[in-house]
Amino acid sequence: MKLMFIGDVVGSPGRKMVEEYVPKLKKKYRPSMVVINGENAAHGKGITEKIYKQLLNAGAQAITLGNHAWDKKEIFEFIEEAPNLIRPANFPEGTPGNGYKILDINGVKLGLINLMGRTFMPPLDCPFQKVDQILAEIEDRSDCIFVDFHGEATSEKQAMGWYLDGRVSAVIGTHTHVQTGDERILPNGTAYLSDVGMTGPYDGILGMERETIIQKFKTGLPARFEVDTGREQLSGVYLELDPKTKKAKKIERLLINEDHPFYE
Ligand SMILES: [Fe+2]
Ligand SMILES: [Fe+2]
Repeated sequence: MKLMFIGDVVGSPGRKMVEEYVPKLKKKYRPSMVVINGENAAHGKGITEKIYKQLLNAGAQAITLGNHAWDKKEIFEFIEEAPNLIRPANFPEGTPGNGYKILDINGVKLGLINLMGRTFMPPLDCPFQKVDQILAEIEDRSDCIFVDFHGEATSEKQAMGWYLDGRVSAVIGTHTHVQTGDERILPNGTAYLSDVGMTGPYDGILGMERETIIQKFKTGLPARFEVDTGREQLSGVYLELDPKTKKAKKIERLLINEDHPFYE
């Protein structure tokens, strides 16, 4: 199966890029499934029901989240009724929403798992033990398995990639908002990329206005960040996964901005 994953959509610039380029990317790559990380989709922090539906309308079948999952309070009102909105699975027992799901894509069963790292991040349950539990439950029922591992440290992300090599089809990192160039298929068949990057402002700092961030570093004083305006980018990854073996056949990074133009 062909799967496209788009990294952290930041605010309206990110949503604009999704609406403009996801249809073009679908035409070019013909994925049967598009997943978007939407943890920053509402003005850089969290997601609303309206934006969740907007991302689905733009061509995604499922939305993953991260540490910003809960920033917009209304998520607690709609997450239980949003079947394809997946939040990190290693939040404590009883947290609203689901951390994984099996989706039926034209008869192919795709297990979709969202996990969050714990290094330089808020403390959560162990993502390694959590993924073992989830795989015990879903691996026999899934033809392919995709993991969005939302983490800060590349060491923890690489550890997850190697830990799951041969057990899932892909481990793709999110959260740092900077795309890494280390895409590969690990020896036992798992596609891996430390971070897929961010979809949103190209000239900001991780998507936020530069000036405030620079001031914050200079003064150490608290500051209120705003989503940057100006040029935009889209970051993603395209995967070909084999439902017969669960292994990845191809991984290709997607990066669209004025320095990396899109070719039809
Ligand atoms: Fe993010
Ligand atoms: Fe994040």
